[in-house]
Amino acid sequence: MTDEHGLDNEVIDPYAQDEDLDLETSLRPRHLGEFVGQQRIKDQLGLILAGAQRRGASADHLLFSGPPGLGKTSLAHIVATEMQAALRATSGPALERPGDLAAILTNLEKGDVLFLDEIHRLPRAVEEILYPAMEDFVLDIVVGKGPAAKAFRLPLPPFTLVGATTRTGLLTGPLRDRFGFATRLEFYDPGDLRRIVSRSATLLDVPMDAAGALEIARRSRGTPRIANRLLKRVRDYAEVKGDGTVNHATASAALEMFEVDPAGLDKLDRMVLDKLCRDFGGGPVGLGTLAVAVGEQPDTLEDVVEPFLIQKGMLARTPRGRVATAAAFGHLDLPFTLDRTPGAGPSLFD
Ligand SMILES: Nc1ncnc2c1ncn2[C@@H]1O[C@H](COP(=O)(O)OP(=O)(O)OP(=O)(O)O)[C@@H](O)[C@H]1O
Ligand SMILES: [Mg+2]
Repeated sequence: MTDEHGLDNEVIDPYAQDEDLDLETSLRPRHLGEFVGQQRIKDQLGLILAGAQRRGASADHLLFSGPPGLGKTSLAHIVATEMQAALRATSGPALERPGDLAAILTNLEKGDVLFLDEIHRLPRAVEEILYPAMEDFVLDIVVGKGPAAKAFRLPLPPFTLVGATTRTGLLTGPLRDRFGFATRLEFYDPGDLRRIVSRSATLLDVPMDAAGALEIARRSRGTPRIANRLLKRVRDYAEVKGDGTVNHATASAALEMFEVDPAGLDKLDRMVLDKLCRDFGGGPVGLGTLAVAVGEQPDTLEDVVEPFLIQKGMLARTPRGRVATAAAFGHLDLPFTLDRTPGAGPSLFD
């Protein structure tokens, strides 16, 4: 999917199956009006794009952050569509050398939208090429080495950089400062997710009643991507075990089968809570130790699991490590017994 310039046409989730990728593309909202929820962001973005259009200019550089599956890539596509501009997509890890980015920048046309996914993983040397490109639309190139080296400055066409990241905290200050608008996508409430599931069911021709949609919405970890995936699993269940209609009964039975609990926690979420509460007495425990305990990468816990558990009020990040709250113990039906004895602090391994 990557061409010689490190450009992807569709950004890939390595864990998704082909069918899921097709689904994701087909269900992706194309216009701002189709993008459900996140009203404030839509208003702000709508204004920025309309202003740029009135001036016949390209929009300011935009940065979208937030946990996976909340719509960052969708918004990047929407920006290009609304601006009637071409979208060029690449990602931080795909740009290994400054030359990789230089090749992309010099191929841009006026008004293009350059989507840079996982921008927090951009190598430092590449990031430095980006500063003057974003600020003054120029590319600084140095040819040769030592006293014979010559610096050139190439003008670039005006473009809009759209950056996406699951971790704003990892972005350097100078990079963050060069975005005209930076915003964080938050988890969706069940009402918005219900609208997303209903929209998807219509597009996929799945018969579904309101209670079925709400049940899927409630169990989707506040995440549109998960809502769409669960809809597919529930559709399978409804077709195989029922008459094909998604209702409250088929939705809850199917989600039970796929180990999504009524609060929307999946197997990994529960495993993290379980280790934290049972094995570490509620914490505090370091991220690395917790990751080893559940057999996952620390990044996965930090990007995917923790934001949701924090939002649910079940987990807290403290300077001494991760701590389970009373709500976490309650969710697991355990008595709330935080072990605060000395020595129960962060592990030696963190
Ligand atoms: N606001 C929304 N309205 C309708 N559908 C949405 C919305 N946000 C996301 N989706 C759906 O969820 C899917 C995943 O969204 P998207 O790929 O934009 O997430 P992302 O934030 O880029 O995730 P990642 O961090 O993993 O790249 C989209 O294909 C789309 O179908
Ligand atoms: Mg994305």
